[in-house]
Amino acid sequence: MKNTLKNKATIYDSQIKEALEFCIKQITECLPEFTSHFPKAYSEKNFYAPTENVDWTTGFWTGEIWIAYEYVKDHPEKYGPEVLESLEGAAKVQMDSFLYRIENEIEVDHHDMGFLYSPSCVAGYKLIGSEVGHRAAILAADRLLRRYHPVGEFLQAWGPMDQPENYRLIIDCLNNLPLLYWAADETGDSKYREVADKHIHTALSNLIREDYSTWHTFFFDPVTGAPDHGATCQGYRDGSAWARGQAWGVYGLATAYRYTHREEYIDLFDHVLEYFIDHLPEDLVPFWDFEFSDGSKEPRDSSSASIAVCGMLEMSRHVPADKAALYREIAAKILKSLCDNYAVKDTSISNGLVLHSTYSNHSPYNTCNHYGVDECNIWGDYFYMEALIRLSKDWQQYW
Ligand code: GLY
Repeated sequence: MKNTLKNKATIYDSQIKEALEFCIKQITECLPEFTSHFPKAYSEKNFYAPTENVDWTTGFWTGEIWIAYEYVKDHPEKYGPEVLESLEGAAKVQMDSFLYRIENEIEVDHHDMGFLYSPSCVAGYKLIGSEVGHRAAILAADRLLRRYHPVGEFLQAWGPMDQPENYRLIIDCLNNLPLLYWAADETGDSKYREVADKHIHTALSNLIREDYSTWHTFFFDPVTGAPDHGATCQGYRDGSAWARGQAWGVYGLATAYRYTHREEYIDLFDHVLEYFIDHLPEDLVPFWDFEFSDGSKEPRDSSSASIAVCGMLEMSRHVPADKAALYREIAAKILKSLCDNYAVKDTSISNGLVLHSTYSNHSPYNTCNHYGVDECNIWGDYFYMEALIRLSKDWQQYW
């Protein structure tokens, strides 16, 4: 284990419990504002404003509500039935909104159907058998299939399907694919699985560099489908390792292995994870790009730490006990730092859960606008809660 990690403490059970209970307090206090509306993707001065169900990120908030629901249900000695009812009621209102969104094709011309529909509607179907959730999630899976390019064998991330400048995939998409595997199982139709398998193969063959850092995005030739070149969108520069991209790679490889059982994905997971760990700063929470480390004044991306922790905890379910214990130990060390140094502990300073995340940071070498920098981000909050619940019980994932 890397020296940075050796002397670090792991999060302990009572701290996990305390952290989850704070999350539940924060979420239940926010429900009046965020039931018919959703928190925006990122906070401003650490407070989320309400938004309609239009961005790629709204499913994470419903996912937070579902995790809170699970914890409250598991602890009837602490919470009254009215708390459970209010969480379930809010999640149902939101699943109606997700069904309306997909049926009316509102902002669904992109690949983020998994991020939107797995933690909201698949979760609702798994937890309470919601038929609304089921119908919405199948429609979302169908929508995602429409992004598939049979020539290049990948799902196009963004933009109109006939634009050569958009003929690319991005590493984030790996975590959209569990929706397709779920749809394959639910419908018995293998087309969803075939597309997901093909996309994973194309993505992993091209996104991972020789040193196991990762490209954020990768372009293909629109006529032949041949791999063309890697580039960044949200990273510092094309050849650098965007911290959240590397974290999407860690979690994406764990889910890729979970659904395909291809042994080579375990090996790739180890290498991509090793790159992530080897480039961590002293407090184990990455700066927004691995171009930067201790001593830098650049902002952190705490969400990338939570995403990678969830990936390690997922992969720990699929490997022999000694390796699983190592992944869990590393995950518990990173989570302790998040909990000690980044988590919100006072509802008067933020209506989110984790501070110091970075959504879109402008650099001299990227084309990003500057927003959600050194703020709470809604997926950062969600994956922090997922990491906590994964360490507190044998959690049945929404993905
Ligand atoms: N999937 C978009 C992002 O990570 O910012």
